[in-house]
Amino acid sequence: MQGLPEVSSPSRRYDGLAVCFHWAVFVLVALACAAIELKGNFDKGTPARALAMGVHEWAGALVLALALPRLLWRLVRGAPAPEPGARWMRLAGEAMHWVLYLFILAQPLLGLLAMNAGGHLLALPSLGIEVPALVAADPALKGTVKALHETLGTAFYLVIGLHAMASLFHHYMLGDNTLRRMWR
Ligand code: HEM
Ligand code: HEM
Repeated sequence: MQGLPEVSSPSRRYDGLAVCFHWAVFVLVALACAAIELKGNFDKGTPARALAMGVHEWAGALVLALALPRLLWRLVRGAPAPEPGARWMRLAGEAMHWVLYLFILAQPLLGLLAMNAGGHLLALPSLGIEVPALVAADPALKGTVKALHETLGTAFYLVIGLHAMASLFHHYMLGDNTLRRMWR
């Protein structure tokens, strides 16, 4: 947009690692969501369905693997000073960010728990990779955790949608640096 000030002060933008974490997690969440939605198009027992499920589980597990160092980095480095704007908007943005951190930790963890409680391990036998089980097989636990994972998954779509729309609103309607400072 014309007339937007360039982001030049380091204190007004996210550092390179925070930006990499943000967009890597975004790509992995998008992959996990696309895979689980696609899975429903394939018949039970087909390799395509198993592949979609595997992609979902591994993309999700990588989200968890990145979420932990990302959160630590955020706690150590903090965030850039907020863009000028209404107080309620700043508070709502901040609250939304902590909810998103909670999602990227809780959602994959629940997925893993559902899998382990169902008696399965997250594994890539061809590469000799096996993630140790977090809990023993437990059908009752599986039912509860899976239902929670599915409900939270739907809520996650909504929260991500709101978050993305808010950042586009800042960029195109308010014309501030919110999107730019998380971009490069
Ligand atoms: C950011 C990460 C993740 C997101 C956003 C996510 C989201 C979802 C969504 C939206 C569903 C479908 C809910 C429905 O059909 O109503 C689902 C199902 C499922 N997810 Fe995840 N998930 C993630 C990570 C994981 C991980 C790490 C695992 C296991 C290692 C996992 C295992 C499962 C399982 C077993 C199901 C049920 C599939 C079925 O029986 O159809 N998810 N997930
Ligand atoms: C899986 C999807 C996403 C997740 C989990 C996510 C998560 C987050 C989190 C946790 C923060 C806070 C960063 C911090 O202060 O430490 C953040 C900031 C941000 N996100 Fe996302 N995000 C996602 C998708 C998107 C998308 C699609 C866009 C743009 C269209 C976007 C734009 C931004 C922007 C501009 C900021 C910086 C906000 C500010 O400076 O106040 N995010 N995101």
